[in-house]
Amino acid sequence: MTPRDPVELWNDEAATFDEAADHGLRDPAVRAAWRDLLLSVLPGAPARIADLGCGTGTLTLLLAAEGYAVDGVDFSPEMIRLARAKPPVDGVTFTEADADDPPLETGAYDVVLCRHVLWAMADPAATLQRWIALLGPAGRLVLVEGSWSTGAGLTAAGTVELVESAGREAELRLLPEATYWGREIDDERYLVVSRR
Ligand SMILES: C[S@@+](CC[C@H](N)C(=O)[O-])C[C@H]1O[C@@H](n2cnc3c(N)ncnc32)[C@H](O)[C@@H]1O
Repeated sequence: MTPRDPVELWNDEAATFDEAADHGLRDPAVRAAWRDLLLSVLPGAPARIADLGCGTGTLTLLLAAEGYAVDGVDFSPEMIRLARAKPPVDGVTFTEADADDPPLETGAYDVVLCRHVLWAMADPAATLQRWIALLGPAGRLVLVEGSWSTGAGLTAAGTVELVESAGREAELRLLPEATYWGREIDDERYLVVSRR
């Protein structure tokens, strides 16, 4: 069977994407958990963030509301359409493009943020190098990934190794708390922050 085109696959996910508690952040407690988690690892606002594989723009808009300038990139026209349809927040751009090699300014970002997208890249090590090139000298990587019960994803050890192989330090924080996901989980979900 021919594998499905990934853009079509994500386009099909877009309409219901925000129904998952961690995607739409519609539950105030889940929203507050993600807000607090991200603010605890980001530099203070104002700062410039690239949100790669931004989906429906939930985190992009959440962080812009906190005073950050956030550029969201996603290759799915439907995801980007839904992101743009949300109430606008100053300081946000959404670009339809491949996050594997984002069409963003080199060396211009304080943060590259990616939640649940690095795992989907064909060559995550090469992708990570291009993402690091977007960062200024003190820029940090904020990666939220998982090794899900579906079998998809990246293990925490694998992501730490990818970051360290790129010549950077990696701080791992496991995220088993139900408050991030709207339900109990039994797979491995985590945050990796690389400050340098
Ligand atoms: C699991 S969703 C995560 C969305 C968002 N980061 C979040 O946490 O709400 C994965 C997203 O990555 C996007 N994506 C996957 N591969 C991509 C690529 N090569 N370039 C751009 N976007 C990509 C999909 O279209 C989808 O919106």
